[in-house]
Amino acid sequence: MALRQIRIMGDEKLEKVCRPVKEITDRERELVRDMLDTMYDANGVGLAAPQVGILKRIVVIDIGEGPVVMINPEILETSGEQTGQEGCLSLPGQAGVVTRPNYVKVRATDENGEEYELEGTELMARAICHECDHLDGIMYVTRVEGNLFDVSEQPEEIEDEE
Ligand code: NI
Repeated sequence: MALRQIRIMGDEKLEKVCRPVKEITDRERELVRDMLDTMYDANGVGLAAPQVGILKRIVVIDIGEGPVVMINPEILETSGEQTGQEGCLSLPGQAGVVTRPNYVKVRATDENGEEYELEGTELMARAICHECDHLDGIMYVTRVEGNLFDVSEQPEEIEDEE
């Protein structure tokens, strides 16, 4: 297990457009493994390669349903809308409200070079959009409605009793 250092907002790598991966070699597979380790260690649901300083179009996501590796992801279709809280490992302790599509269809390649398509709704759709934004140098803060807030100051969400 190898952890990589997560770049914090303000780091110039987070503002660059990443290059497509032309060939998936052991180097890319090692990066993917390290990105997964780093994401799990930080309790995140997604991580993009520029967040560990590598300007390649690679993201990893796990919303609690197992790891998803997306190399050269391309969003094919979106629909609907969801508005909710979003955070980023490159801006620890902060969150903000962002509106995203509620459905996303994406095409990507996995670490073995297999191309696939994936549909996601709700949190998965949000994570795909957030991570793909990173590959174009876009932080979610540019999409936040209202102000960022300190996550620790937010009251715990209370479940409806019915
Ligand atoms: Ni992020």
